[in-house]
Amino acid sequence: MDLKFRRNPDYQTLRDEITSERLFMDRRHILSAAGFLGAGSILGALPACSEPEQTPTAPATAGGHPAPGAALAAKKTAFAVAGGATVEEAFTGYCNFYEFGTSKEDPPRYANLMKVSPWQVTVEGETDAPGAYALKDLIDYSKLEERVYRHRCVEAWSMVVPWVGVPMHSVLSKLKPKSTAKFVQFETYLNKKEMPGTNRPSLQWPYVEGLRMDEANHDLTLFAVGAYGKALQKQNGAPLRTVIPWKYGFKATKSIVKIRFLATQPGTAWNKANANEYGFYSNVNPNVSHPRWSQASERVIGGKGGFNERRDTEMFNGYQQVASLYAGMDLKKNY
Ligand code: MTE
Repeated sequence: MDLKFRRNPDYQTLRDEITSERLFMDRRHILSAAGFLGAGSILGALPACSEPEQTPTAPATAGGHPAPGAALAAKKTAFAVAGGATVEEAFTGYCNFYEFGTSKEDPPRYANLMKVSPWQVTVEGETDAPGAYALKDLIDYSKLEERVYRHRCVEAWSMVVPWVGVPMHSVLSKLKPKSTAKFVQFETYLNKKEMPGTNRPSLQWPYVEGLRMDEANHDLTLFAVGAYGKALQKQNGAPLRTVIPWKYGFKATKSIVKIRFLATQPGTAWNKANANEYGFYSNVNPNVSHPRWSQASERVIGGKGGFNERRDTEMFNGYQQVASLYAGMDLKKNY
């Protein structure tokens, strides 16, 4: 297959798995590992995992939050995509986390280098409660919810993930944003020794993303600390990430160390890399093609139909309840 990627020395574009033979091979690898292409044992075929699966009794970290892989008790909720979740091995084995490299296998392979304990989140900007917070002061681990959301990457693939977390508004309200705070920005952990991908010119580091305050406070928006009943694995953004199910996956910041309240719209990693291709809003929208590929449908990873299953992409990824947030906005211009 002829690969036609526009290369820019300053950034590595998000790549369309449909046009990338290399990604195709990566995906075959993961799906065969997960049993979808028939061959091989999971242990034999999976890329080296970030760390051995931990037992349910995995201890809390020095910061008091559960270690990656520790079992988490979470209340099941009515938020559940019909048809069940993606196999866990596909979720933990097929990742985007460019700080560890640009291939889907780099994060599972290298994320074990990242130290997630102790962990602090700095809160700054337009807030009456600035400071450095331990995770247990932000997240009420006795109130964790499981929500099974569709996860749609801008690269036109999707998964269904049982996230464990809390509504973002339950955390933001503790952080006392001022009335001047119109946006919130999230910044990712950055350590060049632990993150081999940050030594290559792909994105500007640290990875940053942002939301309008009403998007952040929407009941669907989560701070996730786990998935599949366990604390997040490092390659999926341990110990804290965002989940905004009606937006493309790159809006979901992994391994957050800063929450910054702002009066004006913040910069975001992919918009800085290529503003023509990645806007601030990035709502899932089958009617607005990526300049290099259609967003009308998506390849379902680790689903019942295996590698070849496709489904039509839905407006707002099916989460129509957010439409009122964008009333009066031209979503073709504000992509
Ligand atoms: N967060 C950081 N810090 N770095 C990244 O490269 N990639 C984004 C998002 N968050 C990314 C990130 C992209 S493109 C996607 S699709 C999701 O993480 C992937 O999440 P997953 O690997 O857990 O499925």
